Amino acid sequence: MNPLLSASVSAASLENTRQLSRHLSRDVVEHSENYRVLTGDRPTGALHLGHYFGSLAERVRLQDLGVEVVVVIADYQVITDRGSAGDIQNQVYGLALDYLAAGLDPERSSIFTHSAVPALNQLMLPFLSLITEAELHRNPTVKAEAAASGQALSGLLLSYPVHQAADILFCKGNLVPVGKDNLPHVELTRTIARRFNERYGEVFPVPQALLTETPELPGLDGRKMSKSHRNSIPLRLSADETAELIRKTPTDSRRRISYDPQARPGVSALLDTAAVCLGISPQVLAEQIGDAGAGRLKQLATEAVNERFAPFRARRRLLAEDPGTVRQVLARGNAQANDQADCTLAQVRTAMGMDY
Ligand code: TRP
Repeated sequence: MNPLLSASVSAASLENTRQLSRHLSRDVVEHSENYRVLTGDRPTGALHLGHYFGSLAERVRLQDLGVEVVVVIADYQVITDRGSAGDIQNQVYGLALDYLAAGLDPERSSIFTHSAVPALNQLMLPFLSLITEAELHRNPTVKAEAAASGQALSGLLLSYPVHQAADILFCKGNLVPVGKDNLPHVELTRTIARRFNERYGEVFPVPQALLTETPELPGLDGRKMSKSHRNSIPLRLSADETAELIRKTPTDSRRRISYDPQARPGVSALLDTAAVCLGISPQVLAEQIGDAGAGRLKQLATEAVNERFAPFRARRRLLAEDPGTVRQVLARGNAQANDQADCTLAQVRTAMGMDY
């Protein structure tokens, strides 16, 4: 984990969040009607295996439990720490295709882009007034992202967590599945909701973070899986491209396969990857392979990934054949989000006495 982050999200508060998340995970099964999930991603590239097992599968599970799931494609977030949005159209459509192929069902869940929802963005104005500059500067994820970008801290990056609060609160989301990096943003969202309610009267729920329990899947080189490390397996690769990527993963010359992430990062990452696709533990898989060596491990890992994601890839190929489908899904998600945001903004104006 980023050292800036580990320093400020204390072990005790992380443990607290974990316990709460376990409780929430159980409660959501029995009372799915009490929850509205809001979560999302920035459209900066292909979703990979880490995204799938870390968040995508969880969203689909919640949807299938009957929870209303709203997913934001955070296109404005792309320009928080870089000069331009790049090929944003393709990134957004590609991401939406990944969602649909993974099982998000537009009949039950909605997908929208926050740049298309003016009233959501307007919530940022009152929200900014509820937070001090010092609080913004204290956010560990913002600090880490600013440092990693190598650029001066932009006003948008500094205030980005407030924008994220608007993402969550515009639709009165009360459950936010996120990874550790986004916990400070959910904490700030809770602060904003509480302060708004105290100052102007009860409008917003105080949302809760749902920290995903799956252990982080390492990249193929054993480091944290990330697009910038180029060590991930994108979900949308073909079977052959996956085989090629796994074939090139550096391993070692010891024949006996064992799970030891410190001493054998490549071997262990392949074990992790295959094991998570097969639904078994990496240690058990290592035992099964025994003395058969890295060649056999790679063959097994390739088969495991390709079999697990064959249905995903088939669905994605089919969906991509008709670009109209994904456009329609987004248009509908954006229309729904606009209705919601208009309604919430009207409530906010009334609460603030600004309904002229
Ligand atoms: N900040 C998230 C990320 O970088 C993406 C995101 C934007 C998000 N808005 C959100 C996540 C609202 C949860 C809720 O991954």
